Amino acid sequence: MSAVAPVAIVTGGARRLGRHLCMTLAARGYDVVILYRSSAEAAQALVADLAATGRRARARAVDVGVEAQVAETFAEIARMEGRVDLLVNNVGNYNPQDVTRLTPAVWDATLATNLSGAYYCCFHALPLIPADGNIINIGMAGLEGTRANVRGADYYVSKTGLLSLTRSLAAGYASRGIRVNMVSPGQLDNSIDLPSPDEIGQTVPLGRAGEMHDIAQAVEYLLEARYVTGVNLDVAGGYRL
Ligand SMILES: NC(=O)c1ccc[n+]([C@@H]2O[C@H](COP(=O)([O-])OP(=O)(O)OC[C@H]3O[C@@H](n4cnc5c(N)ncnc54)[C@H](OP(=O)(O)O)[C@@H]3O)[C@@H](O)[C@H]2O)c1
Repeated sequence: MSAVAPVAIVTGGARRLGRHLCMTLAARGYDVVILYRSSAEAAQALVADLAATGRRARARAVDVGVEAQVAETFAEIARMEGRVDLLVNNVGNYNPQDVTRLTPAVWDATLATNLSGAYYCCFHALPLIPADGNIINIGMAGLEGTRANVRGADYYVSKTGLLSLTRSLAAGYASRGIRVNMVSPGQLDNSIDLPSPDEIGQTVPLGRAGEMHDIAQAVEYLLEARYVTGVNLDVAGGYRL
């Protein structure tokens, strides 16, 4: 690492997986900018926890689905941090319902947040990412463009699109030395869909829910793996194999 601390931006960073990733990245020496939408109190508490590790941290509210807000956010990052060594697109709303009850409003909101939002962040971050910088998108395990997902179709479409975007950006920005990858959880132990412990083996061959450190470990691997770009790593105990 250079004398100047690298800077990580984590969307949806204030709580749950995003929070865990912020703490992991700070432990690796990153200064962290937490992007959140409504969890101001949790974001400020995390800023304090990150600062206690000796790293610089700040939080900023943004709706990633609104391009003008994303543009403003990264203009501020350009002024304040001056660089983005790692962007983690962690926002991914999951409000599953049967496809026969899906409405255009829900569809638009999911795609705006999960897919367009990630693209807007990439678009505005990329001019600030130096050679050797990284983008890591958080996906969903078991993506396969042609599989039926009757429940949560909007979510799966957004995550499949995000995988396609990941690969395209990886190919397009490789010549600048920027790597773009995806890490895909299956059923985390905080999932709203989590089966009971005696049933989880039916959907997760390794027989347990994923923990946040499992996902952080994959993120850390990708940061180290300088010959790896354009991949999706399912970190999911075999979910949907
Ligand atoms: N949890 C799981 O079991 C699981 C399984 C597979 C994949 N994943 C993926 O892993 C990632 C993290 O999952 P999670 O369960 O920790 O996420 P989450 O709690 O559902 O959402 C993370 C954060 O996203 C932020 N957010 C939502 N809409 C936003 C918007 N328009 N603009 C800015 N921020 C927005 C929220 O911030 P505020 O709180 O500030 O509003 C929220 O705290 C997601 O991409 C998810 O799809 C999770």
